[in-house]
Amino acid sequence: MALTLSDRVVIITGAGSGIGRAAALQAAAAGAHVVVADLNEHAANETVELITQAGGGASVSAGNVADQAAVDRIVADATTHGQLGGLVNNAGVMDLFAGAAETDDATWERCIRVNLTAPFLLVRAVLPHLLEAGTGSIVNIASEAGIRGAAAGAAYTASKHGVVGLTKNTAYTYGKRGIRSNAVLPGGVETNIMSSIDQSKINQDGLGAIGPVHQTAVRNAKPDEIAALVTFLLADEAINVNGAIVPSDGGWSAG
Ligand SMILES: NC(=O)c1ccc[n+]([C@@H]2O[C@H](COP(=O)([O-])OP(=O)(O)OC[C@H]3O[C@@H](n4cnc5c(N)ncnc54)[C@H](O)[C@@H]3O)[C@@H](O)[C@H]2O)c1
Repeated sequence: MALTLSDRVVIITGAGSGIGRAAALQAAAAGAHVVVADLNEHAANETVELITQAGGGASVSAGNVADQAAVDRIVADATTHGQLGGLVNNAGVMDLFAGAAETDDATWERCIRVNLTAPFLLVRAVLPHLLEAGTGSIVNIASEAGIRGAAAGAAYTASKHGVVGLTKNTAYTYGKRGIRSNAVLPGGVETNIMSSIDQSKINQDGLGAIGPVHQTAVRNAKPDEIAALVTFLLADEAINVNGAIVPSDGGWSAG
């Protein structure tokens, strides 16, 4: 089935790596102009080059999505390329797998700021454009940790539960005006996410506690497999899907 995603601009945060890069390549292949928003400008440029080589349209808008000024600039950049039609809130960082008692302020604040506040800032910034057009799709990359307590530490878990709440409220509030808002919950995916933390500081007890639950998962995913679901949710074919919290976890959440 060919997905309808042409004639629109889609912003994908964290598209310099992993799930975001895979989603950017797929959205561009389906006809969207992709705005690659990433803290890492070099990685963002690489993604745009890959898309351009494949015959797609993309541009870089580098910046920290946890920063209001950067968000305003990214959205303003995006509107210079045509009608804004989609947003993928994908940029994210891990925590140190620690419970609340062992979580320091810096880890908590970073996780909440990047994983939850940044998606809020972006949703708030794109909504006026989507509402004016009367159509638009927002896809938030949450996590298994968005629906269960045994998938990460307190900070990451709280941030991803927050993303699920933001997703549902946006779906409910703006659905009748043509806006769809859905969340994808990946299980384990082979990406660079662990490089977002100082791995020497990981709470080994917390990491170990995830093990038995995670073993129920069938397998770890490739970024492309998560991106396929993201691309579908962005496209017009998903018109009846709004407020959905969709795991793509090889069966982890079924355990
Ligand atoms: N990899 C997994 O197993 C897994 C599982 C569940 C959920 N997720 C979620 O998937 C999303 C994508 O992660 P990934 O696994 O592809 O990781 P990744 O580290 O490969 O990619 C994340 C990208 O986000 C960018 N980024 C980080 N902070 C940013 C900021 N403040 N502003 C702009 N860009 C920023 C990084 O530079 C990087 O390019 C995250 O939200 C993560 O929580 C990942």
